[in-house]
Amino acid sequence: YVDIGLRFTTIMEYLTFFFSSFSEKLLVLTVATEETDGFLRFMRSADYFNYTVKVLGMGEVWKGGDVGRSIGGGQKVRLLKNAMEALADQEDLVVLSVDSYDLIFAGGPEEILRKFQQANHKVLFAAEGLVWPDKQLADKYPLVRTGKRYLNSGGIIGYAPYINRIVSQWNLHDNDDDQLFYTKIYLDPLQRESLNMTLDHKCQIFQNLNGAVDEVLLKFGTDRVRVRNTAYDSLPVVVHGNGNTKMYLNYLANYVPNAWNYEHGCSHCDDDVVDFSQLKVGYPNVLVGVFIEQPTPFLPEFFQRLLTLDYPKDKLKLFVHNNEVYHEKHIQRFWEENKNVLNSFKVVGPEENLSQGEARNMAMDLCRQDATCDYYFSIDSDVMLTNRQTLKLLIEQNRKIIGPLVTRHGKLWSNFWGALSLDGYYARSEDYVDIVQRKRVGVWNIPYMAHVYLVKGSALRNELKERNYFVLEKLDPDMALCRNARDMGVFMYITNRHEFGRLISTANYNISHYNNDLWQIFENPVDWKEKYIHSNYTRIFTDNYLEQPCPDVFWFAVFSEKACDELVEEMEHYGSWSGGKHQDKRIAGGYETVPTDDIHMKQIGFEKEWLHFIREFISPVTLKVFSGYYTKGYALMNFVVKYTPERQAYLRPHHDSSTFTINIALNNKGIDFQGGGCRFHRYNCSIESPRKGWSFMHPGRLTHLHEGLPTTGGTRYIAVSFIDP
Ligand SMILES: *[C@@H]1O[C@H](CO)[C@@H](O)[C@H](O)[C@H]1NC(C)=O
Ligand SMILES: *[C@@H]1O[C@H](CO)[C@@H](O)[C@H](O)[C@H]1NC(C)=O
Ligand SMILES: *[C@@H]1O[C@H](CO)[C@@H](O)[C@H](O)[C@H]1NC(C)=O
Ligand SMILES: *[C@@H]1O[C@H](CO)[C@@H](O)[C@H](O)[C@H]1NC(C)=O
Ligand SMILES: *[C@@H]1O[C@H](CO)[C@@H](O)[C@H](O)[C@H]1NC(C)=O
Ligand SMILES: *[C@@H]1O[C@H](CO)[C@@H](O)[C@H](O)[C@H]1NC(C)=O
Repeated sequence: YVDIGLRFTTIMEYLTFFFSSFSEKLLVLTVATEETDGFLRFMRSADYFNYTVKVLGMGEVWKGGDVGRSIGGGQKVRLLKNAMEALADQEDLVVLSVDSYDLIFAGGPEEILRKFQQANHKVLFAAEGLVWPDKQLADKYPLVRTGKRYLNSGGIIGYAPYINRIVSQWNLHDNDDDQLFYTKIYLDPLQRESLNMTLDHKCQIFQNLNGAVDEVLLKFGTDRVRVRNTAYDSLPVVVHGNGNTKMYLNYLANYVPNAWNYEHGCSHCDDDVVDFSQLKVGYPNVLVGVFIEQPTPFLPEFFQRLLTLDYPKDKLKLFVHNNEVYHEKHIQRFWEENKNVLNSFKVVGPEENLSQGEARNMAMDLCRQDATCDYYFSIDSDVMLTNRQTLKLLIEQNRKIIGPLVTRHGKLWSNFWGALSLDGYYARSEDYVDIVQRKRVGVWNIPYMAHVYLVKGSALRNELKERNYFVLEKLDPDMALCRNARDMGVFMYITNRHEFGRLISTANYNISHYNNDLWQIFENPVDWKEKYIHSNYTRIFTDNYLEQPCPDVFWFAVFSEKACDELVEEMEHYGSWSGGKHQDKRIAGGYETVPTDDIHMKQIGFEKEWLHFIREFISPVTLKVFSGYYTKGYALMNFVVKYTPERQAYLRPHHDSSTFTINIALNNKGIDFQGGGCRFHRYNCSIESPRKGWSFMHPGRLTHLHEGLPTTGGTRYIAVSFIDP
């Protein structure tokens, strides 16, 4: 085949080369004025089948109108006419004239030639079920019993002299309609007969998708994927996303002809990748746009993850749009710690009162207008990137727009849509679930993405050079961006070749507490666990990481430093310690025999969350150490105790009203307090050095009479629950 990299000055020169090299006699002619993503995809499919393709009009200014929306396309006929003049006497040459931006091959030249011979005509046009552009002409079409009745000019195949006789009749303007021109010739009975023309009514060769999306299915083979037309049981060779079916073609082309199949997975994922080891000028410059558009849990962790991306920090510029006064303290802290680490750091705060669209435009513009900006990386504050390689992996993939797949933990919710409904909103594509669950792995051309994506700076300065992409009609900013990109013919991809991270939930984020993330145990359990559960907790189960300092007193790591600190802060912020009195209105009966100076979880509105913590993280330990004892984590008394020499320093020997008790140390002996600990009388056994974040678990009554040893200096905090009273 002939690579389009080879340029021929005249078509004759080209043909001489063509016939001298190949016995093949099918020549594909296509018009493309730009190397759009769609064009490159067309060429990839053509190359795969070894078609001989001649591209007409490359580099010319397109004057053929906006063919997707209105009439036009005459320029294509003019260019074809010029090219055919040189081919007019090639009697054995079969010419296939096709569109390229929205078209792919699903089969090879031999198959097309065979099917063309079988059609037994000199010229064959593609057919479709909708009349365009002149509905008045519908009645003039010959009737067909089965099959598509109307002509579509996106695909024409015929012997060169005949094609030439058709296109040589062109004498209209570049923005006149090509399809109308061919239609009129076809509808003229004399011409139809003398030029021996027909339509490919049953989609043997040409599949136009407009009006036929429901007829078409993917057919997976071992090496190739085809489309099957289920209405005519045919396997079309040329698949054309005409009309508003471009997105559906994009979906099909994620598979056809060999992009992805079950046996080999993704076959183009490693084509044209950027090799970091070969970069002569060092790592590309990236502008990172961060968008905090609503109160977002775990924001300090979000920034931390951004900072730990495996990428040279001096190549990163940071733009932050923060719409929330609540988060100003987090950004301030991050800025103070990292202002010298990054190449630059710009924050647009809530006082600027920017809409989301305006803020996103502003960030994108910063990259667009800076010729040294190689990539624009946009990330919303609800994206937890757990893969430190994310930025590099996206750059490597070398696409104009690409996002990493991120999903809501355990849900099918993600940052892309596989299809759009007619009104432009979410529709589920057949492969959506498989992509989200990574049962199909690859790089996917999709119609909509949000939350996190990488855009090439060069694309921002070329195809996407218009500004204000995020503001369009009443669309959400991301929907506006995606629609603009689609309209500009720029493909958007999602990669799920790696695990990248997750989307957290910002719903039900109550910011009226002091440390609000503590309350996120239901809404964002994975992030809650990561932040608040001790990093060695799971080793309890995997390598028996726990101790038994006294008979039936078990000791294990459960809380992280942050959990301890934030719980203490929360209590001190609340401030109403009980004072350790016997009279206690908080409990049934109003009288406490062994009172402590404490605050109940209920008082800070944390009871529901605390009990869930017990069910999720304490119950499994109980099951392990008191084998067979299964607790549902029922507990009425859940509280934080404060011991200090100035107030209450110790607790006299007592039993707990529980089947078992947990007692978690919330700070450090020797640093935060002196003394303290716990003594079990029956065994004459004391634990005098409690460890921050570690919990005791022991039976409450009968065998485990115990006391709180005196705190001799500082303040000691413990969290206690009487479980299964
Ligand atoms: C295309 O040509 C190459 C080189 O001749 C050959 O290896 C390959 O099998 C051909 N592809 C198809 C689909 O026929
Ligand atoms: C069209 O051409 C084929 C041969 O290519 C011939 O067999 C057939 O009769 C012709 N049809 C018409 C309607 O002229
Ligand atoms: C912020 O902008 C919105 C709409 O753009 C406007 O309605 C509102 O009054 C503005 N608020 C302030 C404080 O300027
Ligand atoms: C948020 O928390 C506060 C304090 O606990 C509570 O009063 C309020 O009802 C909560 N708001 C919502 C929407 O749950
Ligand atoms: C977890 O256990 C390891 C090995 O015992 C220890 O080195 C590490 O410090 C522990 N992690 C924490 C957070 O205590
Ligand atoms: C308890 O143990 C301590 C040492 O740990 C010992 O001095 C003391 O005599 C023991 N008391 C009883 C009653 O056994």
